[in-house]
Amino acid sequence: MQNIPPCFFALFLTNLICLHLSSAYNVLYQVCNSDNNYAGNSAFSTNLEQLSSSLSTEAVAKQGFYENNTIGTAPDQISGLVLCRGDVDSSICRDCLDQSFTDLSNQCPSSNEATIYYDFCLLSYSNQQFLNSTDNIAKIPNVPSTRFSGWDPSDDTVRNTFSTLVNTLLSNVSDQAAYKSRKHFGTGVINITASLPVIYGLSQCVPDFSNITCRACLEDLIYQMLKIFDGQQGGRFLGVRCNLRYDIYAFFYGNPDIQIGSISGTVLPTPRASGKGEYSTPDMASSIFHLKKKKSWNIFKFISS
Ligand SMILES: *[C@@H]1O[C@H](CO)[C@@H](O)[C@H](O)[C@H]1NC(C)=O
Ligand SMILES: *[C@@H]1O[C@H](CO)[C@@H](O)[C@H](O)[C@H]1NC(C)=O
Ligand SMILES: *[C@@H]1O[C@H](CO)[C@@H](O)[C@H](O)[C@H]1NC(C)=O
Ligand SMILES: *[C@@H]1O[C@H](CO)[C@@H](O)[C@H](O)[C@H]1NC(C)=O
Ligand SMILES: *[C@@H]1O[C@H](CO)[C@@H](O)[C@H](O)[C@H]1NC(C)=O
Repeated sequence: MQNIPPCFFALFLTNLICLHLSSAYNVLYQVCNSDNNYAGNSAFSTNLEQLSSSLSTEAVAKQGFYENNTIGTAPDQISGLVLCRGDVDSSICRDCLDQSFTDLSNQCPSSNEATIYYDFCLLSYSNQQFLNSTDNIAKIPNVPSTRFSGWDPSDDTVRNTFSTLVNTLLSNVSDQAAYKSRKHFGTGVINITASLPVIYGLSQCVPDFSNITCRACLEDLIYQMLKIFDGQQGGRFLGVRCNLRYDIYAFFYGNPDIQIGSISGTVLPTPRASGKGEYSTPDMASSIFHLKKKKSWNIFKFISS
């Protein structure tokens, strides 16, 4: 499998993102809890080093996923999880995870709880045993700024058309990930008529989730996404246990697992063609939610808006 050149994405996005993509593994977001930092030479930092050496090696050996709820002993104990995107090969997975530990140590220095997201992988660790529960922690909606061509927020028919396309695609892709893929990873494309955009979708859960738990995790993201991504021609919802993404270009490797060419029982109206990008984008900061409010999280955003 060949590597996607960094500026592949930039053809469809902006120059600013191209700059970010000049290194192969660019941070999308990082979430650091800076409440309770650890000292440089503490047992916690030793455990974190142990985590970094074992996690990426184990993950590559185990097809892109590894978690360990108990490294070291309390109070310096660490729980950690890494996950590579289901379509990337082991060398991309390894490089991305290596990068994630380097980036976190530079950018969340001495945080005892942190999560970092990339296109191809994620890393999350904490001094709390967060892997006992199935909570999809550190959820972050990533809303780019471009609306579907023909989008009209005042026209319910247009609204419903785009919302139905996105919902149908992501629901099917999420069924694929939850019930039909051993790795809990699915991709798809919806292509109904020439007048509507072709939309690509991707869903992924941690492979140790049950089918039902995976589908419920994704359903929560779809539900929230349809509300806050209203009319966006692409976007993603990041989370440590499950994540999803859609866009009007093919952003994943390989052929889509599913192709949707019609929507049964519904005659989709054709949205009016009009200019794009004339409506404002939701403010990113106000759309970040579900992060633990009681803690002082620092969220760094690396995607331009
Ligand atoms: C978790 O890490 C500890 C310490 O490195 C190791 O002893 C243990 O076997 C690991 N557990 C799993 C499930 O990999
Ligand atoms: C999580 O599981 C470990 C054993 O794997 C247990 O010792 C710990 O008490 C559990 N923590 C919570 C919060 O349930
Ligand atoms: C659960 O998903 C696996 C593939 O990940 C599939 O083989 C199995 O049939 C599914 N089970 C149910 C009950 O859907
Ligand atoms: C979408 O469907 C049309 C008609 O079937 C086809 O000509 C076109 O190549 C498809 N586009 C993509 C990107 O699959
Ligand atoms: C999957 O796509 C079909 C159209 O091919 C649609 O009728 C169905 O409702 C979708 N499934 C879900 C769960 O949305």
